Amino acid sequence: MDLQHIFENNKQWVKSKLELDKNYFKNLSKGQNPDVLYIGCSDSRVTAEELMGMDPGEVFVHRNIANMVPNTDLNSMSVINYAVVHLKVNHIVVCGHYYCGGVKAAMQSVDLGILNPWLRNIRDVYRIHKKELNAIKDEDEKYNRLVELNVQEQCINILKTAEVQTAYRTRNLKIHGWVFDIHSGKLIDLDMNFERMLEGIREIYHLDD
Ligand code: CO
Repeated sequence: MDLQHIFENNKQWVKSKLELDKNYFKNLSKGQNPDVLYIGCSDSRVTAEELMGMDPGEVFVHRNIANMVPNTDLNSMSVINYAVVHLKVNHIVVCGHYYCGGVKAAMQSVDLGILNPWLRNIRDVYRIHKKELNAIKDEDEKYNRLVELNVQEQCINILKTAEVQTAYRTRNLKIHGWVFDIHSGKLIDLDMNFERMLEGIREIYHLDD
């Protein structure tokens, strides 16, 4: 595939932005002040800003395979730290998506090399919720429920970090678990009760005093 059209698209995009506001890029270059940290899947069908109707400068974005926040992953931990401590975002969103190839791949009996340790985190989510998941007979339904539970567990991983616990207590930082439904294009809020979740993990994971 020739990528020249991307540069043509870019020219058109610059033109359209400047037509609406001749200072658009001048203002953009002054700095960022996003209100939201979005953690989503790298899946090419699941965009970040576009599906939310947000503009450049409004969302700090982190994407990886299956929207994971592993406790020892320097990448996602650094993103969370920077977004919460320095950018002072008021919302953190973990957005999974139905029919996530990463989630499905994680549950196959196959050696995926370097992907094994990454995807093993999803097997751990399955193990925690095995009883509920094993009771679901329809395979698609089961994987889609695992997608939701994976979002929930990644939100809990976020709650385990010291900077999030401090921001939650001192300035009411909010965490949200969402799923993007590829079939309909709709964003679904999983309406997680983080107050209860935090209470549930506080005994073991409390860091902030
Ligand atoms: Co995915």
